[in-house]
Amino acid sequence: MKINGKLAVVTGASRGIGAATAILLAEKGAQVILVARSEGDLLHVATRIRQAGGIAYIVASDLADAASTRSAAQAILQNHGVPDLLVNNAGAGRWLFAEETPEGEEDVMIALPYLAAFRLCRAFLPGMLSRRSGMILNVNSPASLIPWSGATGYAASRWALRGFAEALRADLHGTGIRVCEVILGETSSNYFKANPGSYLRLPKLAKFFPLLTPEEAAWYIVKAVRQNRSTYTAPFLLAVNRFFLGLMPGLFKTISWKSDFPHP
Ligand SMILES: NC(=O)c1ccc[n+]([C@@H]2O[C@H](COP(=O)([O-])OP(=O)(O)OC[C@H]3O[C@@H](n4cnc5c(N)ncnc54)[C@H](OP(=O)(O)O)[C@@H]3O)[C@@H](O)[C@H]2O)c1
Repeated sequence: MKINGKLAVVTGASRGIGAATAILLAEKGAQVILVARSEGDLLHVATRIRQAGGIAYIVASDLADAASTRSAAQAILQNHGVPDLLVNNAGAGRWLFAEETPEGEEDVMIALPYLAAFRLCRAFLPGMLSRRSGMILNVNSPASLIPWSGATGYAASRWALRGFAEALRADLHGTGIRVCEVILGETSSNYFKANPGSYLRLPKLAKFFPLLTPEEAAWYIVKAVRQNRSTYTAPFLLAVNRFFLGLMPGLFKTISWKSDFPHP
């Protein structure tokens, strides 16, 4: 996909991978709409883009809430039109065993990233379908390939997001709309600070993969857009891992399930 002149919506763009992706897309000539809850942080990212000569707008919204997501999508359609690219990146969720998840937190875990992505697609797809073009890109975690122990709700939500991408791809076959999923390894964003306790549960295997910066993660996302990819896995070692997972799923699941982290 040619990025210059396109309208891109990036969720979770107030910091981390989303902010870096929005900045890079703007550098490549896209008009970007930044969505997240923290208006001040969104403004900070938008100002950085504008100072570099780019075009950025902000929409503050709680994407875990259906009504707030609907209003955000309506505001985007009314004020800017149908996006050419939707990057579903907003994500949260502590890593917890099912039995230690406080009642209600499972709803938050499934709301982001899965339900938010579903709801935004529902809002933008009619316009994309009538234009017969566009791309939906979901940012996902290796937990969507092999869950590790102690992150039950987090992994389930990432599997839902991956299932959604697969189902959408089947729905949209032949319509001119692309569906892409980018699976990233550990990235040095604020994720683990925002979701305390999770880092301790990182599977041992993950420690062998090089840590990505948010800027490197953004570079892979933008590469996937430019190359019209349906899936992209980074860094390279994780992609190799994914390849062998396809060949020997049983062995890889056994390695990944092996965890020293005890049940509470
Ligand atoms: N970091 C990693 O190692 C890693 C690896 C693979 C995949 N990922 C995935 O990449 C995505 C981005 O993660 P990150 O590492 O950049 O994390 P991050 O630094 O914690 O950023 C998360 C983003 O999501 C937004 N967000 C959270 N809850 C929201 C809500 N209810 N409504 C709207 N926006 C919300 C946050 O903005 P506000 O707080 O302002 O709302 C923020 O912009 C996530 O889906 C994550 O699962 C991360």
